[in-house]
Amino acid sequence: MALIIDHPSPITQENGQGTNGHAGLKETVRQLARERKAVILAHNYQDGAIQDVADCVGDSLNLAKYARATDAEIILFCGVHFMAEAAVMLNPAKLVLMPDLGAGCALADMIVPQQIRQWRAQHPDGAVVCYINTSAAVKAECDYCCTSSNAVKVVEHIPQEKEILFVPDYYLGSYVKAKTKRNIHLWKGYCPAHAVILPERIDALRDEHPDAEFLMHPECGCLTKQMDLADQILSTEGMVSHVRRSPAQTFIIATETGILHRMRQQNPDKTFLPASEHASCHYMQRNTLEKVFWSLVKLQYPVTVDPALAQRALVPIERMLAIS
Ligand code: 13P
Ligand code: SF4
Repeated sequence: MALIIDHPSPITQENGQGTNGHAGLKETVRQLARERKAVILAHNYQDGAIQDVADCVGDSLNLAKYARATDAEIILFCGVHFMAEAAVMLNPAKLVLMPDLGAGCALADMIVPQQIRQWRAQHPDGAVVCYINTSAAVKAECDYCCTSSNAVKVVEHIPQEKEILFVPDYYLGSYVKAKTKRNIHLWKGYCPAHAVILPERIDALRDEHPDAEFLMHPECGCLTKQMDLADQILSTEGMVSHVRRSPAQTFIIATETGILHRMRQQNPDKTFLPASEHASCHYMQRNTLEKVFWSLVKLQYPVTVDPALAQRALVPIERMLAIS
């Protein structure tokens, strides 16, 4: 496919002054995406400038569904590696690109296939439920997949008598256990970006803003202490939709700070307070608008999954999609 680039270098256009400073580069990226017949998917934690050029911004579940349904020739996935892997498996005929292959996930790295096999051997009648934040190789060892938006629903779907092994996020698993009252064994993985959100800071913010609604992502390390206090425990997309509908004016947001871009853009008259300004995912933030540009120019970096592995990993993913 011939691609004519008659635009000046994006680096000279970039002034690093927030998302508005990227206007020229954003236009160039959109034009390139059209020429390449590419669709740009961005997770809610991505830099605002990337969200602004995306065809779809959403949580893991929405992005997986979008990736499965798209007829674009190329899926440029601006998120982290396990999300792009899911897109490859759900739509194997497409070229799936990531702007930076180093955008992994510390939580996903906290379990490997061998550990699932060993855990299963100790609970041979158990059902293994994996969070979507896992590698394809781990998913291939599991019975059901789930995301933060459908984990309760997925677990409720599993026959009552089954014990459940939940991997890898301890806090999402604790939330699901409290909600479903099921016999769930929890793997002790966690997300470092959500671990910096501290209960003391949330208490202080709630005291300072007594009318604020407090929204929490189930990956938060303080979830086990604050579960009863949170007005809503929601996936990233659940939070974005909730703040749009809610009559409240002020919100305390306990998740990665990239989500504030979309909330503020869609609700300019409302106030959004991060539960921690340090809750930034270094993996998500490896993607930049400049790397998105180069990804479209050079068709880099392709994400692949071995077809035999994909066949096994798709089983828990398809079960989840059938439930949610
Ligand atoms: P969501 O599915 O809620 O977007 O969460 C994905 C994730 O990685 C959060 O850290
Ligand atoms: Fe993984 Fe945490 Fe980053 Fe989400 S925020 S991608 S769970 S490291």
